[in-house]
Amino acid sequence: MRLLITGGCGFIGSNFIRYILKRYPNYKIVNLDKLTYAGNLDNLKDVKENKNYKFIKGDICNYKTVDSLVKGIEVIINFAAETHVDRSIVDASNFIKTNYNGTYILLEAALKNKIKYFLQISTDEVYGSRVKGFFKESDTLNPSSPYSASKAAADLLAVSYFKTYKLPVFIARSSNNFGPCQYPEKVIPLFITNILQNKKLPLYSRGENIRDWLFVLDNCLAIDLILHKGLPGEIYNISAGNYLKNSELTKIILKKMDKPWEFINFVKDRPGHDFRYAMDSLKIAKLGWKPRYKFLNALDLTINWYRENSLWWKKLKAKF
Ligand SMILES: NC(=O)c1ccc[n+]([C@@H]2O[C@H](COP(=O)([O-])OP(=O)(O)OC[C@H]3O[C@@H](n4cnc5c(N)ncnc54)[C@H](O)[C@@H]3O)[C@@H](O)[C@H]2O)c1
Repeated sequence: MRLLITGGCGFIGSNFIRYILKRYPNYKIVNLDKLTYAGNLDNLKDVKENKNYKFIKGDICNYKTVDSLVKGIEVIINFAAETHVDRSIVDASNFIKTNYNGTYILLEAALKNKIKYFLQISTDEVYGSRVKGFFKESDTLNPSSPYSASKAAADLLAVSYFKTYKLPVFIARSSNNFGPCQYPEKVIPLFITNILQNKKLPLYSRGENIRDWLFVLDNCLAIDLILHKGLPGEIYNISAGNYLKNSELTKIILKKMDKPWEFINFVKDRPGHDFRYAMDSLKIAKLGWKPRYKFLNALDLTINWYRENSLWWKKLKAKF
């Protein structure tokens, strides 16, 4: 199989590329990434000489670039995005450009070049918040931030390409990921690396908000399954059911890293902060997916990775 993976130098994309190259030694990957602040060639330096892997620096918003790369490609998997909610609140423009317009360009190129499958990587944030119960794939989208609104818009556009043009589109909506190579502005790597630097942990409000945590390799397994067994036109939620208040998550990290509760610095809440994300992932379970990693073990793996790769994150944090 020949795949065009976009945003492959980011957190999930780089884990996915490494996973695919190992799992399918005959698959060929082209990685198109703009190398924004979140894209990092170091994430894939161990595979850069692999004969089945090719990196192209470029923008998914540029039709000419995308169209030239899609020739001979069977599958597009779109990870490329602006992904940090706080940044979208400060300035949404790049979120609209990349997350919405960029997806449009990829869909157009997929259609014109008769791509076999198009897999749009989405997020649980498109459903918005709910106090009780779980969102199903058929539920109405109700995003709260410019980030989640741009992702929701891209999902709707991708679905329209299936309905209107029969472009074989899948959508994968996962909950919050964590694991190696996650940019240290996101909560888990931020807290781990702050502790390693003996800095306090900025926790929004009283830490009551609830998130559902998924180890990145479990997400890779789910995306692989959707690609090989999913039904075109379908949306798949991916949740491991690890629901934690942010304060509980922080407590666990502090305990694992031998720091006291006083290490927390409560900060003013984010505007439009969703209280709870929760999805029903029965549909992907029926395809045969279940998480392989237990949350606490995966968190240990993640903490160890940041301990052992301080050069990786120190370079990035120096730019904050
Ligand atoms: N991280 C999570 O917890 C999470 C959860 C659910 C869904 N997602 C989705 O998964 C995808 C990947 O998330 P991530 O956390 O790995 O993101 P990331 O921010 O770590 O990486 C994004 C990558 O996209 C690249 N990129 C940005 N704009 C581009 C453009 N215009 N053209 C080409 N490349 C561009 C960046 O250089 C970077 O390598 C995103 O679509 C995100 O919405 C992430």
